[in-house]
Formats: sequence, C-alpha cells, structure tokens
Amino acid sequence: MTKRVAIFVSGGGSNMRALVEDMTGDHPARPCVVVSNTADAGGIVWAKAQGIATVVVDHRPFGGDRPAFEAALSAALERHSPDMICLAGFMRKLTGGFTDVWAGRMINIHPSLLPKYKGLNTHARALEAGDTLHGCTVHEVTAALDDGPILGQASLKVAPDDTAETLAARVLTLEHRLYPAVLRRFAAGIRAPLFITG
Ligand code: GRF
Repeated sequence: MTKRVAIFVSGGGSNMRALVEDMTGDHPARPCVVVSNTADAGGIVWAKAQGIATVVVDHRPFGGDRPAFEAALSAALERHSPDMICLAGFMRKLTGGFTDVWAGRMINIHPSLLPKYKGLNTHARALEAGDTLHGCTVHEVTAALDDGPILGQASLKVAPDDTAETLAARVLTLEHRLYPAVLRRFAAGIRAPLFITG
C-alpha cells in the first residue's frame, strides 16, 4: 500500500522538493502534508503551489515547552494520517516523547558523514579537521540528535580550494540524490544502507 509521507521543513525546502518530485509513478509513497515551524519557510510556499496540504505550527508561542509544541504538531498531523515522517531541514530538536511514537517511521537528512559532526556547522568542521571525504547521511530519527540507524550515505572528495560555502553547495546537490533514493527504499521496507559516491 502506498505510504503517506509528512515532510517537515524550516527553510527553503530544497530536499523536500527533491522528495516530492520523486514521489510519482511507481514510487511506494506520496506526500500527504508539508509541516513547518515557521510561516515564511520557502518550502511551504512551493508545496502550496503544488497543491500539497501545508501546516504551520509556530514554535515560538510555546517558549521552551517542547512537549506542548510537539502535541500541537501531533494534532496537526493527525488530520493528514501520515504513515511516516521525513525531516528535511527541520530546525527544531524533537524529544523522546515524539520520536518514540514515530520510531522506525521517521527519517532525517544530515549534512555530514555521521557519526562525524552531529549538530551545526558541519562543513566548516569537516574542513577544519582536514577531512578528505565529506558528505551527507540519511538516518532513522531517535531521541538523540543526528543519531539512529544509518539508511544511506553519499560522499564526495573535498577539493583543496573548497570553502564551507562551496562544500555546502556540493553536499546539497548530493543530498538531492541521496534522500529520494533512500526514501524509495525505506517506503518499500528496505533498511539496508545505500552508499553513493559523488
Ligand atoms: C540541508 O543541508 C539538510 O541536510 C539540513 O538542512 C539543510 C536543509 O536544506 N538538515 P533545504 O531546506 O532542504 O534546502
């Protein structure tokens, strides 16, 4: 049966777009809603223009009350009956209360070769460490940040003249290949990791 996918974004949503554009034909999944914590996320505008349902749950009125924010997210999700969630540049940490409910049904893309460089500024950190290989990872989401079983990785060679900006752009291009490929497999029940070289 076709899987209904909720996609969470906070920004431009280029990964969300890559996922949506791939979910056609014999793909085992379809987008059912795009969710954002900020009304001006570019991804929300694009999703609306595609006729995809969108929901904004602003985190700010909740202050630091993450469980209350997540309860609002869950209530919004319920109306769209997703089978799974793809985090695509969603910039809010999720607590175990939320990740446990979606265990095995929620995936994320992170711009590093995990377990290296969890968190932010991954490209600058890879350069600073003198890494010759860098890339991105799709993994199942657990309560620990940027952790959880790895479902796929795409890697590239760091060029001598790469800056954090050029690396970010090169890795983003790889993300757009990796995430749709992993989602296709994941939605079909395949958990063995996929490795791509850029
Ligand atoms: C990507 O680099 C992704 O790996 C990270 O946030 C960025 C989102 O970019 N989690 P976009 O909104 O998909 O363009």
